[in-house]
Amino acid sequence: MQWRNQQVYHLRQNHELTVEQQNHYFNEVVKHTFNESTPSQLLFSYLQGDECIGYGGLVHMNWIDKNAEISFVMNTKEESLYFEYHWVNFLRLIEKVAFEDLIFSKIFTYSYNIRPRLYTALEIAGFKQDARLPSHCIVNNKYQDVLIHSKKNESMTGLISATAKDIYKLYEWANDPVVRENAINSSKIELKQHFYWFTSRLGSVDCEIFIYYVKGEKVGQVRIDFEKQEQAWVIDYSIAAEHRGKKYGKSIILSLVELYPQKSFIALVKNYNQASVKVFEENKFIEVKSFDLIENQIRKFRYIPF
Ligand SMILES: CC(C)(COP(=O)(O)OP(=O)(O)OC[C@H]1O[C@@H](n2cnc3c(N)ncnc32)[C@H](O)[C@@H]1OP(=O)(O)O)[C@@H](O)C(=O)NCCC(=O)NCCS
Repeated sequence: MQWRNQQVYHLRQNHELTVEQQNHYFNEVVKHTFNESTPSQLLFSYLQGDECIGYGGLVHMNWIDKNAEISFVMNTKEESLYFEYHWVNFLRLIEKVAFEDLIFSKIFTYSYNIRPRLYTALEIAGFKQDARLPSHCIVNNKYQDVLIHSKKNESMTGLISATAKDIYKLYEWANDPVVRENAINSSKIELKQHFYWFTSRLGSVDCEIFIYYVKGEKVGQVRIDFEKQEQAWVIDYSIAAEHRGKKYGKSIILSLVELYPQKSFIALVKNYNQASVKVFEENKFIEVKSFDLIENQIRKFRYIPF
C-alpha cells in the first residue's frame, strides 16, 4: 500500500489508499482468487532473500484468449538504482508462469508514456511495442499516450533474427567447449569482448545473426558475415549441446538457404568435424578447397545459388 501510494503517478489509481481500503481489497478480491481455477489475477510477492521488495503478477487474465496484463510494483527505495534490474527479473519470472505453466499465448504491459526506464527493461526482456493509444489519459493535468508492450509465446520452428535480448544465450553457446574447439579461432571469449562484438554487429549490414527455434525452443544459432573478397556470406553456426544429433544442424542450414535462395555462402570446416561436413554436403554445398591452418586441415564449402 505504501509503495502504491508513493508511486500513484504511474498507476491506474486516482487516490491514495487507506489501510481499510487495502484490507477490504485483499479480503474481498485477492483472497478469493487463491481458490479459483481461472482467477482474474495471480499475484506474487517478489523476494530478495527473505525480504519482500515488490509484488506483482498477471492481471485481467483472459482464459479464453489466453492473454494477461502484467502488473509489478517494487519497493520505491529500489527504483533509483535497480529499477531495470528488478523489472527484467520479474518479467522473466512471470513469463515462465505465463508461458510454461499456464501456456498463455501473450502477456502485455499497459503504461502511460512517462516511464522511459520501463521501456528499456521491456526491451531487454524481449517485449515489443504492440500499440500506442495517442493522448489517451490525463496524467498530471496533461494528456499522455498509453503504450502497450507485449511478448508472444512463440511455438514456431525456424530462424528469427537475433535481438539484444539474445546476448547472453549467444555468449553461452559461443563458449561451449565443442564450439570453441571446432571454431577456426578456438580461444575462449570474454563477456566484455562479446558485448562489444555483439552490439557492434546488431546494426551492421554486413552481418546477420539468427536464432533457430524448434517448437518455440531456441536450439541453435547461425550467423552470416559478408566477405567482400569472396562476394559471399561466410557461415558460422552451432546447435546447443543438448540438441545435437537430432538433425537440427542440417535443418538450420537448409532454413538459411531457403531464406536467402539468391545468396552465395561459404563455410570453413575443420576436417575432423564430420557432422558439419555432412551438414554442408547434404545441403548441396560444394567443396572448393582444403588448406592447412596451424595443425588443422580446413575444408572450404561453397553454396552457389541456382
Ligand atoms: C556441427 C553441428 C552444428 C551439427 O549439428 P547436429 O544437429 O548435431 O547435426 P545433425 O544431427 O544434423 O547431423 C548431421 C550429420 O552428421 C552426423 N553426425 C552427427 N554427429 C556426428 C559426429 N560426432 N561424428 C560424425 N558424424 C556425426 C549425423 O549422423 C548426420 O549424418 P546422417 O544424416 O548421415 O546421419 C553441431 O554438432 C555443433 O553445434 N557442433 C559445435 C559447433 C560446430 O562445430 N559448428 C560448425 C562449425 S563449421
